[in-house]
Amino acid sequence: MTFLPWNLSLGTRTAAGLIFGQSGGSFWMPPPSATSAIWVDRAFYFILYVSTFFFLLIVTLMTFFVIRYRRREGLGPQRSPHHHLALELTWSGIPLLLVIAMFGLGFAGYIDMRTPPRGAYEIRVSGQKWNWSFQYPNGYVDTNLHVPIDVPVKLTMSSKDVIHSLFIPAFRIKQDLLPDRYTTMWFTATRPGEYDLLCAEYCGTSHSEMLAKVIVHRPGEFEAWLQEAQKRRQNLSPVELGRELYLYAPGGCAVCHSIDGTRKVGPSFKGIYGQIHEFENAPPTLVDDNYIRESILNPSAKIRKGYPDQMTVYKGQLSDEQITALIEYIKTLK
Ligand code: CUA
Repeated sequence: MTFLPWNLSLGTRTAAGLIFGQSGGSFWMPPPSATSAIWVDRAFYFILYVSTFFFLLIVTLMTFFVIRYRRREGLGPQRSPHHHLALELTWSGIPLLLVIAMFGLGFAGYIDMRTPPRGAYEIRVSGQKWNWSFQYPNGYVDTNLHVPIDVPVKLTMSSKDVIHSLFIPAFRIKQDLLPDRYTTMWFTATRPGEYDLLCAEYCGTSHSEMLAKVIVHRPGEFEAWLQEAQKRRQNLSPVELGRELYLYAPGGCAVCHSIDGTRKVGPSFKGIYGQIHEFENAPPTLVDDNYIRESILNPSAKIRKGYPDQMTVYKGQLSDEQITALIEYIKTLK
């Protein structure tokens, strides 16, 4: 960890650690699980303790003065003394030093968080209403973020529709994803486990369901997992592939379409194949291969009666093979 100016060993969990947030989580924060977290916590706790100290000092003195110098019989208002230069310099100088220290801590951490080390492992991230996809260097796409431990990981991110924001509380990092451009973020995970990843930018109906997990693998296990996942994806039958696509990337259908008949943002897929549907903007049509294909590539062409025109356009985002797989999967949903 040469890019950090002092040793940031996470140490063992102690009572002090719980209060001061050094190793385990604290009342304020989940356990810091990446190098970036140390920076944020250091600035956060410094500001918290300085604020707490002055809050208590000021409120205590104020209460004391209110009682001590209250208006009493024979004790009227008095002329203020002349100003006291040394006192005024002190009460300006000390806060100035404190806020400079706060700035220094925040700035050092900010610069570190904005500068991915050379050779960081790159993962591409795409946000869409309302899920995430993470693409690894070998082309494999997952809806969860799997990362190796103790290796700097750089995320290159973009959105397919509106602004989303990728937030990993345990790593203390958050960055917006914008349509039509890339943003980046990096971290080095320091403890194995599963962490929450969420969207922190209000992005529409199912914003609160735009969730994923960060899985930090133990040393050596990440590569094995990635190979295995890739192999599994390649050996799928069309129906299995369709099911994967329905559940996961890119822009898994499951967010808006159920397979058990439940109404979500969009209509359920259950038993639709072979039905005749009514539309807001088109004559009744048979649900067949061509209809499903059109509904994926150009959803607004036929808006199902009683549903909003809300679906993402998937033109250019799914291959013919993937569309066929989805059709085959929908056929099986009796
Ligand atoms: Cu995406 Cu909120």
